[in-house]
Amino acid sequence: MRSHFCGLVDESLVGQTVTLCGWVDTVRLQSHVAFVDLRDHEGVVQIVVERESAEAFAVAGELGYEYCVSVSGDVRRRIAANEKLRSGQVEVLAARIEILNAAANLPFALHENPSEETRLTYRYLDLRRPDMQRKMRMRTRLVAALRRWLDARGFQDLETPILTKATPEGARDYLVPSRVHPGEFFALPQSPQLFKQLLMVAGFDRYYQIARCFRDEDLRADRQPEFTQLDMEFAFVGERDVQDAVEGMIREIFREVAGVELDAAFPRMTYAEAMRRYGSDKPDLRIDLELVDVAEHVRHVEFKVFAEPANDPAGRVAALRVPGGAVFSRKQIDDLGQLAAKYGAKGLAWMRVEDRAKGRDGINSPVAKFLDDAALDGVLAATGAADGDLVLFGAGSYKVVCDVLGALRLKVARDLGVVAEGWRPLWVVDFPMFEYDAEAGRYVALHHPFTAPKIDDVADLNANAAHAVSRGYDMVLNGNEIGGGSIRIHRSDMQSAVFELLGIGAEEARAKFGFLLEALRFGAPPHGGIAFGIDRIAALMAGTESIRDVIAFPKTASAQCLMTSAPSPIPAAQLRELHVQVVEPDKKA
Ligand code: AMO
Ligand code: AMP
Repeated sequence: MRSHFCGLVDESLVGQTVTLCGWVDTVRLQSHVAFVDLRDHEGVVQIVVERESAEAFAVAGELGYEYCVSVSGDVRRRIAANEKLRSGQVEVLAARIEILNAAANLPFALHENPSEETRLTYRYLDLRRPDMQRKMRMRTRLVAALRRWLDARGFQDLETPILTKATPEGARDYLVPSRVHPGEFFALPQSPQLFKQLLMVAGFDRYYQIARCFRDEDLRADRQPEFTQLDMEFAFVGERDVQDAVEGMIREIFREVAGVELDAAFPRMTYAEAMRRYGSDKPDLRIDLELVDVAEHVRHVEFKVFAEPANDPAGRVAALRVPGGAVFSRKQIDDLGQLAAKYGAKGLAWMRVEDRAKGRDGINSPVAKFLDDAALDGVLAATGAADGDLVLFGAGSYKVVCDVLGALRLKVARDLGVVAEGWRPLWVVDFPMFEYDAEAGRYVALHHPFTAPKIDDVADLNANAAHAVSRGYDMVLNGNEIGGGSIRIHRSDMQSAVFELLGIGAEEARAKFGFLLEALRFGAPPHGGIAFGIDRIAALMAGTESIRDVIAFPKTASAQCLMTSAPSPIPAAQLRELHVQVVEPDKKA
């Protein structure tokens, strides 16, 4: 049907006849000549239709945006080159134009930036846009590069079930009712975690899979209900073996796919240090702002908001100095307060440092009056605040203060434009094994329940559960968790003990994970691995904030597909066949 791609027509073809297929990007009709920009996946080329080619000229008169057409003609040099286009030195003098398919009036012009809702409803048109074509192509190259790297190193690409049993990763499951087993359900995998461990028990040594994962959780720009992992597992490894291998892989694919040179060795930071300095377990090291603990300076004050957490071993009082932040208006500070509230803060104390030399009088703050001179001087000195700075305070439980100041740190850095250029990868290590969930009144796994503790002895672990550190690790890049993994528990007794600590009793453990506990009894090798978020890596490489931009058909923030209107109701007959009854949600008052 065609001899060349539009975007690749160049000077080497001058004098040749080409046949192109594509979409009408723009069309300009003049009395004696028509110009059509014809676009395909490679780019755009200019088509010239002269009145002398009467038939072609007549067809040109009928063209509209996004008509699908075929054009034949000779390539010739352009009088005024367009340096922006690869094909910009040449044009095609059309001898024949054929309309392959007309296009109805578009819901939006492809050159505009329509709303997300419109884009997702007409995703096939959105994807026609060159920018989306570029992003999706980058994703293709990323996956191809990963596969090349893995294949060259003997990793086996093995598929694991989609219809399966629950694989807990901290989210809710998507369930699929079984027709032939009334009242029973499959779960879609939150990850292939258990299967990849069983593949190590099965002796495959090194496994990978480009795996679709399903998680029913609150969605954000970096989370989708179904997403893609590069999932990997290795037998007979410790954490450094896994980390060194995949760090090399990430470095190589960034070089190959994005032309980015990452650090020679990624720095390592413990979870505790990351929380203390950055208020986050995925610190963005491009931002040069750090949290400072100030509890020691406010322990004695009457102001309960500060004094209580300062005297509570599970509390934290910390400050974030924002250099130059005094430029923030009251309105902007109020907005920061709202952000803080979203992360659980009961308020946002702040100080504007107007003239430090004037002592208390040079400080503009709603809380300065609650602090005596020693406290005020102490906190300001601790933060190193200077004239023109803003200091933000978090006081409360350790976790909430980290979350609040961690989020404010990102926000003010973006607002002030102080996020440095470049790429800052790191490993975050030494995660706590368990986190206490006050609401549920029990421990939950910080990674997943199959992560090995550093303590190798069951009795020791039971005695020190609250402080146990896991053998988990996350790879973080520019504030994004791009990968997470761990060395796994490979002994049945340890796995049972961890289940027990997580409140999963022997019976429940047998019902849910009996196959795993059993498998670990038959000579399971020590093993470990990691999974990378392909969508997140692709988004970083493509320079976009949202992973929706690198997923061909993503879902909205409320987990819907606007194009197909999924999810959707099911006919009663089908429900009956599946032995499913719908319970209407309670009507909100
Ligand atoms: P984890 O839950 O950390 O680990 O997931 C691994 C990586 O997958 C990406 N990711 C997501 N991307 C888009 N949308 C989501 N909803 C989403 N959730 C996670 C992140 C994350 O780092 N089985 C373990 C891995 C292991 O232990 O080997 C697991 O799934 O980039
Ligand atoms: P209050 O005594 O609750 O009126 O608070 C006095 C000041 O402290 C206000 O500026 C609040 O925004 C701030 N504040 C209250 N609770 C916190 C908190 N948990 N962390 C930081 N600042 C707070």
